[in-house]
Amino acid sequence: MAKKQTGAPLARPDHLWRRVEALHPDLSRRLVAWQADHGRHDMPWQKTRDPYRVWLSEIMLQQTQVVTVLGYYQRFLERFPSVSDLAAAPLDEVLTLWAGLGYYSRARNLHRCAQAVVSDFGGRFPETVAELVSLPGIGPSTAAAIASFCFGVRTSIMDGNVKRVLSRVLAWNEDLAIKLHERQLWDAANHLVPDLETDMPAYTQGLMDLGATVCTPRKPNCLLCPWSDWCGARKEGHPEDYPVQTRKLKRSERESWPLWLEWQGQVWLSQMPDSGVWAGLWTLPLFDSLLQLQTLVGDERTPMLLPQPKFKHVLTHLDWWLHPHRLVCSEPDAAALACALQGSQHGGLWVRIDDLAQWGLPAPMRKLLLG
Ligand code: ADE
Repeated sequence: MAKKQTGAPLARPDHLWRRVEALHPDLSRRLVAWQADHGRHDMPWQKTRDPYRVWLSEIMLQQTQVVTVLGYYQRFLERFPSVSDLAAAPLDEVLTLWAGLGYYSRARNLHRCAQAVVSDFGGRFPETVAELVSLPGIGPSTAAAIASFCFGVRTSIMDGNVKRVLSRVLAWNEDLAIKLHERQLWDAANHLVPDLETDMPAYTQGLMDLGATVCTPRKPNCLLCPWSDWCGARKEGHPEDYPVQTRKLKRSERESWPLWLEWQGQVWLSQMPDSGVWAGLWTLPLFDSLLQLQTLVGDERTPMLLPQPKFKHVLTHLDWWLHPHRLVCSEPDAAALACALQGSQHGGLWVRIDDLAQWGLPAPMRKLLLG
């Protein structure tokens, strides 16, 4: 496995470090004070320093908004109150509880990470960034968030929001798509953290809050910013020019044809293979083309297929077009098709529509079937 990068010391560009050293010594104190007055305080993971809870929230919050995470976070903790409960659970159950949050590799890593905490650390999360980053699914910024929130470690997070905030304050105009430039910014960021360990949780939350509510990608509200007096990008007059990041995400497109087979209040679900976007989840059988779907259904039943409106499932790297086709079966058709599906890679079972909510369907499937 590639070694995860932890922001080790490196050559410090003069123009960056002149700015770092010229920044006002009150920079971190002002952010901590601003967080107390204007930051967010009511999120449930802020009421604890328990690394299990903080870790869970940080993983859920990757690529997912706070409002969406709230319910999942509560249900997870009710079902798995401790890291050892999570480690002991079957993966299927973790995936079912995760269903709808998307990016399911997070759920698989969550489970593996819980097992590693139990087997390698006696059920207690380690306290250093280096050890945290050795665990499955914990990258350097998530490790920094856990270490600073729970243990007061004086280290900076570096997610997308923080790259924006700090590249603006420091007017750091090198291309962050180049790993070296990102590491140089991170090195500077580690220099700006508060002197006091006890200030680290509020500082880290302050960075997140500033990026989410004030120092936004478009039309940042500099008048409300605690750092506006010292912000290099603001002095230049074009804060929106930062961060400089040339590489655009290369997006791809994919198409699938879900077969929505219905018989006596039941639908056919099959389990996805162990790799891919919905690995291990239950869905309608997915075909790569309409022809493949029709071939399984058979010529005699193809005229009974009802095309449903196509829809797009948007992922970070992928626009996934889904073209569902519905077939409401008679008893003999149901038996013949179940037999054909069992003999293909779409093996599965009939599930009552009333029970679908318990099957951990991916969000677009749930929406399609349950409205
Ligand atoms: N995104 C990642 N971590 C977060 C946190 N602790 N609070 C709000 N949003 C976040």
